[in-house]
Amino acid sequence: MSIEPTRRITAPELRARKGKEPIVALTSYHAHTARILDPYVDFLLVGDSLGMVMHGLETTVPVTLEMMILQGHAVMRGSQRALVVVDMPFGSYEASKEDAFRSAARVLKETGCGAIKLEGGAKMAETVRFLSERGVPVMGHVGLTPQAVNALGSFKALGREEKDWAPFLEDARAIAEAGAFSMVIEAVAEPLAKRITEAVPIPTIGIGASPACDGQILVLEDMLGLSPRVPKFVKKYGELAGGIEAAVKEYAREVRNREFPGLANVYPLKAKA
Ligand code: KIV
Repeated sequence: MSIEPTRRITAPELRARKGKEPIVALTSYHAHTARILDPYVDFLLVGDSLGMVMHGLETTVPVTLEMMILQGHAVMRGSQRALVVVDMPFGSYEASKEDAFRSAARVLKETGCGAIKLEGGAKMAETVRFLSERGVPVMGHVGLTPQAVNALGSFKALGREEKDWAPFLEDARAIAEAGAFSMVIEAVAEPLAKRITEAVPIPTIGIGASPACDGQILVLEDMLGLSPRVPKFVKKYGELAGGIEAAVKEYAREVRNREFPGLANVYPLKAKA
């Protein structure tokens, strides 16, 4: 009898989900959380948000390719079913399409992940085409693009008025036409997310972009109540910070009061013969 190994979801399979069953995604940066999430999600994103969430940075700008590769590796080790998508960090893909290919090839080779994500719309379309035609599955990221925070000035939601929608639609269409298999839409008003989702033939994955998208992604630590600052749109599905604090307090209390448990149950003494 042969046991089929678990097969990972692929980028083309995710693309084929357009307009069908909603796509479930979460960020993950560690092997152990990846293992817990794997049965429930279609893809795990090793987001460059790890710079803010794991390292306490103010923005994602300082994140390096090495940081992404290290955590991408960990998430691949912890998961076996979900597609793993690794973010390309700021500075690793914008200067030229050749640079982008070199960085993306390192990510795919060194982590074994199934796709990369990069931020930007029409301006990145040529790069998206270059990568897609050379065997790199690309997830786009439009709307609010956090790596551009220094140019944008803030992380504010966009596209509240219809008169402002044209560039966002143009961005989404451009990267879809260039061969992206899916795209994240971040922090845009619901009617704009709906319009983009209707306008492109690939699945849209919303974060702060309403249920009008083909799927949803959240930053794991935000939805678990572990992040000190959380965007307004995030529903908290857990309150783990409180749980961790209560456990640590109890541990500290036991140690200080000399109530820390002994090892009698762990290493029972052997009876003498
Ligand atoms: O880095 C990240 O976590 C992301 C999500 C916000 C989609 O790009």
